[in-house]
Amino acid sequence: MAIILGIESSCDETGVAIYSHENGLIANKIYTQIPLHQEYGGVVPELASRDHIKRIIPLIDEAIKEANINKTDINAISYTNGPGLNGALLVGSGVAVSIGYALNIPVIPIHHMEGHLLSTLLSDDNIEAPFIALLVSGGHSQIIKVTQIGEYELIGDTLDDAAGEAFDKTAKMLGLPYPGGKYIAELALKAKHDIYNLPRPMLHSKDLQMSFSGLKTAVLTLINTLTKNQTILDEATKANLSLSIEEAITDVLVSKIELASKITGIKKVVISGGVSSNLKLRNKFDKISQLKTYYPPLKFCTDNGAMIAIAGAIRYNLRKYDYKFNVKPRFKLTELDKIP
Ligand code: KG4
Ligand code: ZN
Repeated sequence: MAIILGIESSCDETGVAIYSHENGLIANKIYTQIPLHQEYGGVVPELASRDHIKRIIPLIDEAIKEANINKTDINAISYTNGPGLNGALLVGSGVAVSIGYALNIPVIPIHHMEGHLLSTLLSDDNIEAPFIALLVSGGHSQIIKVTQIGEYELIGDTLDDAAGEAFDKTAKMLGLPYPGGKYIAELALKAKHDIYNLPRPMLHSKDLQMSFSGLKTAVLTLINTLTKNQTILDEATKANLSLSIEEAITDVLVSKIELASKITGIKKVVISGGVSSNLKLRNKFDKISQLKTYYPPLKFCTDNGAMIAIAGAIRYNLRKYDYKFNVKPRFKLTELDKIP
């Protein structure tokens, strides 16, 4: 039995959470930098690192208070060591390793995407491997075959943009704020039909590769045509475009997972990462009766500390005491240590 403090700082959210083997998630604190980056239309790495530095210790204090424990009750610290922004990762790792050193407890580096994958265990559903995982975030669109927790085989990937990136870039073209996925989803609710029928890249490629940059180009071309006679898009056109973008991206993701299930013979699917909060995506998956789908609770789809704390709790038995830190901005999920 142990109490694990989890720290996430790979991008634009400072997340701190405490997970107890006995009582589950006992504290969860998050500070989002999104408003800070919005005026630049995307994350500014240097500003992200500076803001993590400001927020991280007060958030840890708040989490300890919320969990109603003392610092010395913490048995291990887990932190995101990659992939992500180098400077942002260094803040979380520096703080985690320093606290670990001071308290003489293990520090456990966590792969950000394994955190997303395991965030599904924060739901009430009981999921056991083998399963397929669709990890869809701002930086990744990956299909993973999970033979057991900790053993990951990459069976599908995007050749260019990630699904979240496709949402964000097309949203930017529509003049929507960063990160655009949720704004596209909101606007799409105001449209009735998928009137533009945008391309579904690699839908019939018979493999598990994905590509979203063609979709981005198609949206740009369409916007240029639509704006020929007017300076800006009206709200109804923006809503119609949002629905068509959402339909195209979600169709590709669903069809690739159906194919992954056919190829592997596995019918259980975990869908996680920021894009898994998309309700249309969930809706389409839930309609496929041959698949049993699992999602993280909505509040744990986008980056958070709870996913790093639970991943740390699962990896606690590896008991790493390494007080050197080595962040890996391009860390691959297939390079992880096995869980004994
Ligand atoms: O996992 P995440 O918080 O950060 C990364 O690890 O990248 O994912 C962020 C991504 C962004 O691209 C954002 O637009 C997308 O998740 N996202 C959504 C929705 N909410 C967040 N995409 C589509 N629909 C949503 N409701
Ligand atoms: Zn993420």
